[in-house]
Amino acid sequence: MIRAVVTGASSGIGQAAAIALAKTYRHRNQAPVKIVVHYRNNESGAEQTADQIRQQGGQALTLSADLNDAAACDTLLDQSWQWLSVPNTWINFAGVDVLTGEAKSWSFERKLKQLMEVDVLATIKLNREVANRMLAGPESGPPPSITFVGWDQAPLGMEGEAGQMFGPVKAAVMAFANSLAQQCAPKVRVNTVAPGWIQTSWGQTTDSYWNDRAQQQSLMNRWGKPADVARAVCWLSDPENTFCTGQTLEVNGGWNRQFDR
Ligand SMILES: NC(=O)c1ccc[n+]([C@@H]2O[C@H](COP(=O)([O-])OP(=O)(O)OC[C@H]3O[C@@H](n4cnc5c(N)ncnc54)[C@H](OP(=O)(O)O)[C@@H]3O)[C@@H](O)[C@H]2O)c1
Repeated sequence: MIRAVVTGASSGIGQAAAIALAKTYRHRNQAPVKIVVHYRNNESGAEQTADQIRQQGGQALTLSADLNDAAACDTLLDQSWQWLSVPNTWINFAGVDVLTGEAKSWSFERKLKQLMEVDVLATIKLNREVANRMLAGPESGPPPSITFVGWDQAPLGMEGEAGQMFGPVKAAVMAFANSLAQQCAPKVRVNTVAPGWIQTSWGQTTDSYWNDRAQQQSLMNRWGKPADVARAVCWLSDPENTFCTGQTLEVNGGWNRQFDR
């Protein structure tokens, strides 16, 4: 059975992933799926996620924590372990949105600092503790897993401010995940999902340039959806998927290298 924590599950990809876990694993065995729905401020979004999990016959607990607050992260860990009695999968989707809302008008330096603090430093600190707790867990059963979110363009780069922010930030997360996989095998599996152009809140406001670009850079000729990434996350975190660790799975519909004649 799935006993999961999904961070950043109040909207976007994290929300889709938490709901998809409940749908995918509801018939796997007798025990209900149990999912901690983590959020920071968007309580109603988190409650919507929890409702959808419950509609699938799963159990859900919403927990709030700002990743920048070390004490709040400790409480998130303690309450998750208490409620789940050892999660068998921890999925990281919490990340700063600097593309919409008030943050859109911040300076480049402020956006980068915030991304570094939350998506990199706080995520690494939190997941070192997640891994330690999983490593100290019971020997029996399939290895638990941790899944990170990277970005398909981080390793090779993209022009402009978005590339200069998200490139180093997500590359750092992907590098950390690979090192954690080396550290924790074979007791804990660690993988990364690297989405391409996924239509979450920013992708619903974009002009024709970005819409065309998102479509044309994918071999499938469309924006990715949160559900596309959620499907990959369900596969990576499947407890029976015991031979998969240290992998980065791109979810971008295939990068388009075709050349127009
Ligand atoms: N969309 C894409 O095309 C794409 C591509 C590659 C990678 N990603 C990555 O995928 C992840 C999810 O993206 P999304 O588009 O689904 O974003 P989203 O809808 O903005 O969701 C972000 C989540 O992170 C939480 N969060 C933000 N700051 C936080 C903090 N300081 N502490 C704790 N939680 C915090 C938010 O919580 P509250 O709203 O409750 O405050 C929300 O639940 C991000 O890491 C993003 O960089 C996205």
